[in-house]
Amino acid sequence: MGNTLSNLRYLVLMAVLACGNGCGGPAEGPDGDGTDQAGATAKYTIGMSQCTLDEPWRVQMNAHIKAAADKNPDLKVIFQDAEDDALKQRAHVAEFVSAGVDLIIISPKEAQPLTEPIGQAIDAGIPVIVLDRAIIGDKYTCFIGADNKKIGEAAGNWLVEKLGGKGKIVELMGLETSKPGQDRYSGFHAALKNYPDIRMLHEAPMEWKEAKARQEMEGALSRHAEIDAVYAHNDPAAHGAYQAAKAAGREKGMLFIGIDALPHEGVMYVAKGMLDVTFEYPTGGARAIEEAVRILEEGQPSAKNIELKTRFFTKENVDRGGEAIE
Ligand code: FRU
Repeated sequence: MGNTLSNLRYLVLMAVLACGNGCGGPAEGPDGDGTDQAGATAKYTIGMSQCTLDEPWRVQMNAHIKAAADKNPDLKVIFQDAEDDALKQRAHVAEFVSAGVDLIIISPKEAQPLTEPIGQAIDAGIPVIVLDRAIIGDKYTCFIGADNKKIGEAAGNWLVEKLGGKGKIVELMGLETSKPGQDRYSGFHAALKNYPDIRMLHEAPMEWKEAKARQEMEGALSRHAEIDAVYAHNDPAAHGAYQAAKAAGREKGMLFIGIDALPHEGVMYVAKGMLDVTFEYPTGGARAIEEAVRILEEGQPSAKNIELKTRFFTKENVDRGGEAIE
């Protein structure tokens, strides 16, 4: 595409997206500092729809995408934040389609509501990379994410071993309408299946939020005099649970399990002795850009479904960078 045409198209795109953003201003860059105008000359425009930036893991995913895209002058990424609102995220995808972006990357809030607009993008001939949270069916170009069932199962096996097959536990669950929430639950319970002496005292949804997890844990602490371990579906929730237990003077001897393992979050909590284990959930941001380029240049990704590897970090292995899970 010639530069003038490319510039013109970019400006139209920005106008459409700025309005879709509530007519309140341009789509924001990942750091919330506005979109980088240098991208006006890029060959390809990628629309990135993030379900929320309210959690550190998602800020990191956008940063990984931006860092990878910044290395390639052919790419311009427009970031949209749906602020935890599936309807807003649906609108963002539709706006990317009407603006005619070359490719969409999306990390959907929930499977069901985002399945339809993603299908419509595919129908319009726009390739879609789905990151981390799967949708329903297979109408997308490429899915990239770690296996949450495997992670849940690994967490369960780790706990069974630590407790010697006996104990009282609390589970703080991610959004039940999202695939990671469902799989982290079912994988964990599959691992516990043959251990009837591990008793679930309190099972509560915390929707991925630290504050909600802390509240739920306060409830569990007030109702149960004995809690041996907490399995939280992400590190913010594990940290919230730890803080609640600490405030009640009961954190010692209680095991805290989290998922995500960002270096400056879960891994740091393990190093500080707050969490006992965290399982890595890679953001896949850099891989998404790698696959985007492949799709844009060669017409297809390296595979339709790409599984990212995971590792776990405990106080024993944290200094040597954790340990891989097979
Ligand atoms: C962030 C997050 C992560 C979690 C992932 C699951 O929104 O809750 O903490 O691992 O989403 O999709």
